[in-house]
Amino acid sequence: MRIVVVGGTGLIGSKVVEQLRATPHEVVAASRATGVNAYTGTGLAEALDGASVLVDVSNSDYLDEAGSLDYFDTETLNLLTYGAAAGVRHHVALSIVGTDRLAAGGGGYFRGKQLQEQLIRRSGRAFSIVHSTQFFEFIPRIADAALDGQHTKVVQTLMQPIAGDDTAAAVVEAALGSPTGGTVEVAGPERAPLADFVQRWFGRGDHVRPVEVDPLARYFGSRLRDGDLLPGPDARLSTLTYRDWLERETASHPV
Ligand SMILES: NC(=O)c1ccc[n+]([C@@H]2O[C@H](COP(=O)([O-])OP(=O)(O)OC[C@H]3O[C@@H](n4cnc5c(N)ncnc54)[C@H](OP(=O)(O)O)[C@@H]3O)[C@@H](O)[C@H]2O)c1
Repeated sequence: MRIVVVGGTGLIGSKVVEQLRATPHEVVAASRATGVNAYTGTGLAEALDGASVLVDVSNSDYLDEAGSLDYFDTETLNLLTYGAAAGVRHHVALSIVGTDRLAAGGGGYFRGKQLQEQLIRRSGRAFSIVHSTQFFEFIPRIADAALDGQHTKVVQTLMQPIAGDDTAAAVVEAALGSPTGGTVEVAGPERAPLADFVQRWFGRGDHVRPVEVDPLARYFGSRLRDGDLLPGPDARLSTLTYRDWLERETASHPV
């Protein structure tokens, strides 16, 4: 069957495309870089022609509420509408563990993700949603966002991050399976304070930077309550540890 991966050139999308290309299916990586714009609709009809499955792993360039809501509203409605017209039988989307909690905490970006999920659920289309915790690869972004002058001030919360390869595998499994009409959660094997994961990222080289826990810090605009980033008891847990991922990462990109 033909599977179109919208956002197929991104961090997770490129892994999804690579894993799907190891199967006998026809796989199309669709993004602005390949001439497909899910926001404007440019190239969508052509890309989706003959597709059975549409996988949405695209992302907004905007982290603010207005930008995120506008992107996910427009692109999701475009994908659902063009998908229906092309005869797509399964709409698969990647979102975040705790999206509703993060949106309720005031994080504008997460309001966009929440709207994306609502639009899919209410569309009447056959769908599956994958909720992932934060990717290991995203921890440097969390560290950058937490930089306040000379200090890295992070939010006080537990997290259970996962290797991007493992999130991609869950998305692939959803794409090759039947529509669930619901959400599956995936997370990594280890639960620890967010500050520990950031500290261990900095600790790869000789220039260990101190990480401070700031009770007033926000997580991408969201005021977190403890547990907001954590998966529920039914989440599927992957096995690659942060330690092994860090070793692999440091070997391929020496500090
Ligand atoms: N960060 C985390 O830890 C985390 C955790 C759970 C879930 N997620 C979710 O995972 C998803 C993927 O995240 P990611 O980090 O892999 O994103 P990413 O690396 O930023 O990639 C985004 C992809 O979307 C494409 N894109 C952007 N605008 C587009 C448009 N208008 N039309 C078509 N394609 C467009 C980009 O390609 P072009 O620029 O070429 O268009 C790129 O391929 C997001 O929805 C995010 O919410 C993230």
